[in-house]
Amino acid sequence: MTGQAAGGHEMDATSGLSPGTADAGGPEPLLELVAARAAYGPIEVLHGVDLKVEAGSVLALLGPNGGGKSTTMKVCAGLLPLTGGDLRFAGRRVNGISAQDAARLGVCSIPEGRGIFANLSVRENLWVATGTGARMEEMEEAAYSRFPILGKRRNQLAGSMSGGEQQMLALSRALGSNPAVLLLDELSMGLAPMIVTQMYDTVAQLVAEGLSILVAEQFARAVLPIADTAALMLHGRVVSVGRPDEIEEQLSSSYLGG
Ligand SMILES: Nc1ncnc2c1ncn2[C@@H]1O[C@H](COP(=O)(O)OP(=O)(O)OP(=O)(O)O)[C@@H](O)[C@H]1O
Ligand SMILES: [Mg+2]
Repeated sequence: MTGQAAGGHEMDATSGLSPGTADAGGPEPLLELVAARAAYGPIEVLHGVDLKVEAGSVLALLGPNGGGKSTTMKVCAGLLPLTGGDLRFAGRRVNGISAQDAARLGVCSIPEGRGIFANLSVRENLWVATGTGARMEEMEEAAYSRFPILGKRRNQLAGSMSGGEQQMLALSRALGSNPAVLLLDELSMGLAPMIVTQMYDTVAQLVAEGLSILVAEQFARAVLPIADTAALMLHGRVVSVGRPDEIEEQLSSSYLGG
């Protein structure tokens, strides 16, 4: 199937950004924003964002409230159109791509707030996610072997589970579509420190399995140990990109008061 992106750009939505294939280690980043601008109505909130997620790596997008992290994630997931600049997947310009086509190409996002259905059970939540083409049996098998607690909770309403269990469910749903790039927005939000560590251990494992990850976090400490690169976002711009320890230093001097 061939999709038509805005600006008349042709793209083949079936080829995908498969991890561990010829793309990996190639010269092109898997996901890239170039001078990206985005707005809510008349108010521009991304003022020219440059960002690269290399194959098989974790990029941590850090910065204070309102800096534009979630907006950047929405743009990358095809949920919010660019008003300027470019969005590229594996070197291809895909401006105007729909969220559905982005998912088909292998870009999958877990939004802030996790995006699960509180009034559906764990199984039903997994079932909804099979809409992306995954088989229910495989989906359940993968989810319960990665997170055995979800197997025990399979008939429980998702909204009645702990924050950590909900995040495990959100991750399982996202992984069902076998993505190449995972966009995680505030994975640690509302979770106890021990659960945060456990979630990031899982993320590190996913990267070892070939996934590339863009993760936005307001609190850097959780994600920096597993990040390959970090970017600091302030007022709708990426103001600094570098090694996690370098960016952590800037973070503490710029707004965390350390
Ligand atoms: N749906 C929306 N409509 C209008 N303005 C919005 C909307 N979502 C976000 N904004 C504005 O866009 C700017 C960037 O917000 P965004 O949510 O991207 O920041 P963030 O870095 O994710 O912040 P946080 O750390 O609080 O999650 C903020 O000024 C915010 O008020
Ligand atoms: Mg946010």
